[in-house]
Amino acid sequence: MQKFNIVILISGYGSNLKAIIDYVNNFNLPINISAVISSNNQAYGLTIAQQHNIATYILDSQRDSRHGSQDNLSSALLNIIHPYNPKLIILAGFMKILPEQFINYYPNKILNIHPSLLPKYPGLNTHQQVIDNNEPEHGCTIHYVTKDLDAGPIIAQQKIAVCHDDTKETLKLKVQKLEHELYPKVIASLIIKVNNCSSNREKYELY
Ligand code: GRF
Repeated sequence: MQKFNIVILISGYGSNLKAIIDYVNNFNLPINISAVISSNNQAYGLTIAQQHNIATYILDSQRDSRHGSQDNLSSALLNIIHPYNPKLIILAGFMKILPEQFINYYPNKILNIHPSLLPKYPGLNTHQQVIDNNEPEHGCTIHYVTKDLDAGPIIAQQKIAVCHDDTKETLKLKVQKLEHELYPKVIASLIIKVNNCSSNREKYELY
């Protein structure tokens, strides 16, 4: 079976990374998670990747913070990612702003997951903002990455009702559960659609 490469960018715990790895393995999908790149050398997601024999890379934060950092970050990412010729680049809790030059190099190939129902609440602290504004519902959004933060075309959303006793901590847990279900399905669906795979079409061609 021909497999299609994807690369995953993380900065932290890696629970979405784990959900994607498990889904790809459980459903024997034609996807090869070629590399995991972290902006943080302490990210637990690096351990998860290594446990699954996935190549790992750590971005050099010292170099990125120097003058010309966006150019540096773009070339550092391209140097790692280009050889894999990925069909998709997946941001899974990646906490750096991607350089425009890098985004332009991979049009419609970079996906992000965001813990709110965009266009509401781009940026950080989404769960607290939902509580402060008495929102009746909350959720997560998967979207294409463009130069504008959390504002690219939306691919999929999943919602939950906000309960009167929810806190930012309970909302975080509930939204992450949604993320772990939705992100792997969207990735599988896009890979199968874009590459015109015949197997499992009906099952995954959802988005
Ligand atoms: C997720 O909740 C995602 O929405 C946000 O960052 C978090 C990453 O969590 N962008 P994890 O590292 O996948 O556990």
